[in-house]
Amino acid sequence: MPAEWWRDAVIYQIYPRSFADSDGDGYGDLPGIISKVDYLASLGVDAIWLSPFYLSPMADAGYDVADYEQVDPLFGNLDDADRLIEAAHAAGLRVVVDLVPNHTSDEHRWFRDAVAAGPRAPERDMYVFHDGRGENGELPPNNWKSVFGGAGWTRLHRPDGTPEQWYLHLFDVKQPDLDWSTERVREAFDGVLRFWLDRGVDGFRVDVAHGLVKAEGLPDWDVEQAAMLGGQSGPMWDQDGVHEIYRRWRGVLDTYDGDRSLVAEAWVADPSRLALYLRPDEMHTAFNFQFLDCHWDASAYREVITATMASNGAVGAPTTWVLSNHDVLRHVSRLGMADPGSSHEGLGMRDEQPDHVVGLQRARAATLMMLGLPGSAYLYQGEEFGLPDHTTLPDTVRQDPTWFRSGHTRVGRDGCRIPLPWAADRPGLGFSPNGATWLPQPDGYADLALDRQADDPASTWTMYRDALGARRDLGLGGAELTWVDAGEPVVAFDNGPVRVMANILGAPVPLPDGYRVLLSSGPLAGGTLPMDTAVWLSRA
Ligand code: GLC
Repeated sequence: MPAEWWRDAVIYQIYPRSFADSDGDGYGDLPGIISKVDYLASLGVDAIWLSPFYLSPMADAGYDVADYEQVDPLFGNLDDADRLIEAAHAAGLRVVVDLVPNHTSDEHRWFRDAVAAGPRAPERDMYVFHDGRGENGELPPNNWKSVFGGAGWTRLHRPDGTPEQWYLHLFDVKQPDLDWSTERVREAFDGVLRFWLDRGVDGFRVDVAHGLVKAEGLPDWDVEQAAMLGGQSGPMWDQDGVHEIYRRWRGVLDTYDGDRSLVAEAWVADPSRLALYLRPDEMHTAFNFQFLDCHWDASAYREVITATMASNGAVGAPTTWVLSNHDVLRHVSRLGMADPGSSHEGLGMRDEQPDHVVGLQRARAATLMMLGLPGSAYLYQGEEFGLPDHTTLPDTVRQDPTWFRSGHTRVGRDGCRIPLPWAADRPGLGFSPNGATWLPQPDGYADLALDRQADDPASTWTMYRDALGARRDLGLGGAELTWVDAGEPVVAFDNGPVRVMANILGAPVPLPDGYRVLLSSGPLAGGTLPMDTAVWLSRA
């Protein structure tokens, strides 16, 4: 496999519980993924990234890890993980696993030991324990909130009910934050990295990479100022101290052969802050959430593409592109909203409903534009079928902690985590052998099932497969972008031998002379590029 594969790879995100269920419990599992490895290779991606499959009480769908070195029985066992890594490698796919270092589950042994050891015991140093404010410590140590809603601190009580210290959890109450100023935490994670590197994984997606270090003294959070700065700003995010952790990890990875890599999930205020994570001795890549959150507007896309290439280029890092993942409204739904880019929050039946016809047309255009860009790109399972979110899930089936912690004001992310439709006429749309699905699938998913699309030249699936094939054959991931002026509403650039044009909200524009159409995201009318359509052209 080519060196520095991460510079131009297309990486397919698998959310294991919703990908493919082999045993009929309604939850996807590792054997289910193994059964689809050939499918993934035929789609034409270069790598897979697996969301967490480790031992977990599943308070946050596995992002609450109780043991980093065990597979949760819901998903299988370590042998399955080994078999999956082997099968993927045999099919030419790299394997990236999720690393969740900001917090553990409260059921992790480290946390249990810390609680049992009592205030000021060395075991407590692994987490952010603190005495409360107020006369009797009855007030939380500061005003930090949980990302999912509600307070960011919870007070512990002794078995007899006496209150004692508080612990920090930037996410759910069952996700206590680790204290990364403690050497024991750092050493423990060196071990976790090695455990999976020894098993052959090609890299790690680093969860909440901007959150590990908290500002000295845990000062109150100036919420208004944070809102002005954008991204996730505040004394818990993007502190300069995180970088020495990533330099340390890079040191560990570099002792292994085979080009292992790190990708940061870091929601920071601007591209120049993100580039700090990508310095030559830190992470290799980072998700480009500014691209995901872009308004449906040609100049906004030009700006974000230019800014990312400049800031990443300055530190020698490739760009990455992403439109959907397990935390945001899928781009078919997002781009079908009246103001795409204003929010990527999940939707419920009481919210404005997206126009999924418009959304799919735009999503296909956005995808073709994305796959025409140089750098590495991320796909989220099911986007190759053009899946929208389930935006009318009954509240009774919701599982995302966001729904509960926000006092039922934010529906959360269940809508983008629906079990995949593989076969239109099978129970559960072929997700599981008996039709069981941990969340219900919306009506529209049957028409989007893989078996309805695989042989249809006009289907979204065919567009993805053809674009991935052409991208690889023409070396687009490693080519150079040059902007082309094709008028205000058109994002147009040359990349290697291909001219990419995306007409965003504009009147039809003529296609240039001397080119032929390689791929298009929708029908082209009489030599013109219609609104919300993208094409790849090559010189005739
Ligand atoms: C990341 C994950 C998200 C999870 C959170 C807490 O943002 O992508 O799914 O809830 O971290 O681990």
